[in-house]
Amino acid sequence: MGDLRNNTGTSQGKTQLSPEVRVAMIGGTGLSEFEGVDWLSTHYPETPFGKPSGPIKEGCYDGNRFFFLARHGSDHSLAPHKINYRANIAALKALGVTHILAVNAVGGLAPSMGPHTLVIPDQVIDYTVARESSFYDGVAGPLDHIDFTDPYDPIVREALLLAADKCGLACEDGGVYGCTQGPRLETAAEVRRLKKDGCDLVGMTGMPEACLAREAQLQYGSICAVVNWGAGLTDSPISMEEIGEVVALGMNNVRAILVAALAVLMNDSGH
Ligand code: HPA
Repeated sequence: MGDLRNNTGTSQGKTQLSPEVRVAMIGGTGLSEFEGVDWLSTHYPETPFGKPSGPIKEGCYDGNRFFFLARHGSDHSLAPHKINYRANIAALKALGVTHILAVNAVGGLAPSMGPHTLVIPDQVIDYTVARESSFYDGVAGPLDHIDFTDPYDPIVREALLLAADKCGLACEDGGVYGCTQGPRLETAAEVRRLKKDGCDLVGMTGMPEACLAREAQLQYGSICAVVNWGAGLTDSPISMEEIGEVVALGMNNVRAILVAALAVLMNDSGH
């Protein structure tokens, strides 16, 4: 899979926009569809790693083209540990994508990151197990070790923050995303441990997506929508019904930020 690295953008501290910017959005829980878009075509890619989560739609919003992939499938049937993250990233790479705007619904751990908060994380701790998490594992491709000091691309992070600002929506700049295996939620003791480790947010889908994007030299950032307090941080158990309500309210704001970030990435050449 050496060609995965064939891209003019670098993905570390000093990134520059590629000459041709092609943006993909990866939608998570609550964002399997994207309304208000002129859909131009639908791609059904096969990759050396199998099929991605579903069709990849190509659309246009306000004159800006982008790709959209629903991480859990169009019918939201794929559990976090069953998602073929390698196929998703390889398929986007094959379509010429250079930048990824990912959306993750998460639990809040930091006191300032309760339900309804939006966060652009800047760090990750990976607690997942047994997920295919590399293109360069010596089997799928040559053994290699990427730098992952800063897991999220600074230009994509900045575009998301600027977009939130333009939309007049509050968004936390930075946070540590702890990625658990799922699909069950955490125990109270696991949440205490995550907090002790320095995690501000907990989700199930941030990894290995972010490191695969880095391996493929795709510039990757995430917008996290906090949909519940982490387990044991409130007196009541986590209710999927309540999560559903918060997701429904929050995703309109997330969509607004995504299309504004798309415009920033596509049009702001001084970036
Ligand atoms: N834990 C893990 N993943 C999640 C949570 C949570 O509390 N909420 C939304 N995704």
